[in-house]
Amino acid sequence: MTLAPQIDLLDLRSYQDKGQPHDMFRWLRQNDPVYWHAEPDGPGFWAVTKYEDVRTVSRDPQTYSSYEGGIHIATPNPETLAGARNMMLYKDPPEHTRYRHLVNKGFTPRQAAKLTDRIQELASQIIDEVIERGECDLVTDIAGELPSYVIAELMGIPLEDGRKLYEWTEIMHSTDASIPMEQRMQALPNMLNYARQVAEAKKGQPSSDLASILVEAEVDGHELSDAEFDWFFLLLINAGGDTTRNLVAGGMEVLFKHPEERRRLQENLEELLPTAVEEMLRYCSPVVYMRRTAMNDTELRGKHIRKGDKVAVFYGSANRDEDEFPDADRFDVGRTPNEHMAFGGGGPHYCLGAHLARIEAQAILREMLTRMPDIEQAGATERLPSNFIAGPRHLPVRFTPGERAS
Ligand code: HEM
Repeated sequence: MTLAPQIDLLDLRSYQDKGQPHDMFRWLRQNDPVYWHAEPDGPGFWAVTKYEDVRTVSRDPQTYSSYEGGIHIATPNPETLAGARNMMLYKDPPEHTRYRHLVNKGFTPRQAAKLTDRIQELASQIIDEVIERGECDLVTDIAGELPSYVIAELMGIPLEDGRKLYEWTEIMHSTDASIPMEQRMQALPNMLNYARQVAEAKKGQPSSDLASILVEAEVDGHELSDAEFDWFFLLLINAGGDTTRNLVAGGMEVLFKHPEERRRLQENLEELLPTAVEEMLRYCSPVVYMRRTAMNDTELRGKHIRKGDKVAVFYGSANRDEDEFPDADRFDVGRTPNEHMAFGGGGPHYCLGAHLARIEAQAILREMLTRMPDIEQAGATERLPSNFIAGPRHLPVRFTPGERAS
C-alpha cells in the first residue's frame, strides 16, 4: 500500500493550481475505490473512482437517483432544488425519458452531422478575428466562442445573445470569490428571464429551431409550463458551453506539453483528429463528477451504502483507470479503443450533446492547427477554481500572424 496523499477531492485550490487531483484519484482507485469522503458542511459522500463502478452507478437510476438530491455534492437548498428539478438532468426515469424524447431528435449523429459545414464556417470566423494579431487568449478568444455561437444557432437566437448567455453560464458555474455575489445572484434570473422572452417570441413566430420545438412540445398531453420551458432552455445553454470550451483549451494545453504527439497529429491531421479528440476528452474530462443519491441500502464493491447517502462518480478518475486503459497516464492521439467516460458512464443521462461537442472540437482544432501551425503557449495557464467543471480559464498563446479567410 502506497502512502496515502491527503485526500480532499473538493479543495478548489488543487483544481486551480494543478488541474484534476490525479495523485489522489490513483491512490483511491488502488486502495479505496469506493471511499467515504468527509464534507465540510454536510454529512459526507461516497467517492467512486473506478471505471466499472462509475458505469454501475450511472446505469442504475432506480438505485442511484438524480432527482432525490440533485447532481452537486453540496446539499442544495430546497428552493433551488425545486427549480432545478424542472431540468431533465435532475429527473429519473420514467419522467426523465419523456422529457429527453422532446429534444433527442435534434441531437442524433445525423442531425449533428448536418451542422458540420456551418460549424466549420463559424470556427473559421473565430480564427479570422485573431489571426492577424499573432497572439491571443486561447480560452476567451477562441475556445469559448464556438459553443456559444453553435447553441445560439440551434436555439434560433442571435449569435451575439449566445455570447451573453455564455457569460451568465460562466458566472453560474463559477465558485470564484472574485465575482461579486450580486452578479452571481443575478445570473440565474437573467437567464430565466431571457428564456421567457424567447418563449414569447417563438410562440408568435415558430420555426424549426429547438426553442420553437420546446414551445410547442407536449408531455403527457400538456404543453411545458413556463418554468419547465425556461429551465429546459437553461440546461441546453449551460450544458454545452464551458464543457466544450474546456475540452478545446485543455486539449490544446495537453498538446503543448506533448510535442511528439502534437507533431504526429499535425502531420496526419485528418486521419488522427477523431481519435485525438477522444483522447483529449479522456485525458481532460471537463466534467469532474456527477452526484447521485442512494434510494435504498445497497452494496458497491463490498461497501455498504445506506439509503439517502450521496454517491459521486468521478469521470476524470475512471478515465485513467489502469484496468480499463493500458498505460492510462499516457496521452496518445491515436488511442483505440477509447471508451472513455467524459460524457458520462452510460445510462439515461449520457450527454445529449456528445456528437455536437465532437464536431465543434474537431472544427476549431482543425482551424487552429492548420492556420496557426506554430501556435505555442506564451504564458502561464490560469485554471478555474471549480471542483465541478475543470479546465483553463486563461491560456495565453502566440503564433505567426496570418491572413483572414474571409
Ligand atoms: C466536451 C463537451 C461536453 C462534455 C464533457 C459533456 C459532459 C456531460 C456529462 C458528464 C453529462 C452527464 C452524464 C450523466 O449524468 O450520466 C452531460 C449531460 C448533458 N449534456 Fe453534455 N457535455 C458536453 C457537451 C455538451 C453539449 C455541446 C451539449 C449541447 C447542448 C450538451 C448537453 C447535455 C445535456 C442536455 C445533458 C443532460 C442529459 C440528460 O440529463 O439526459 N453537452 N454532459
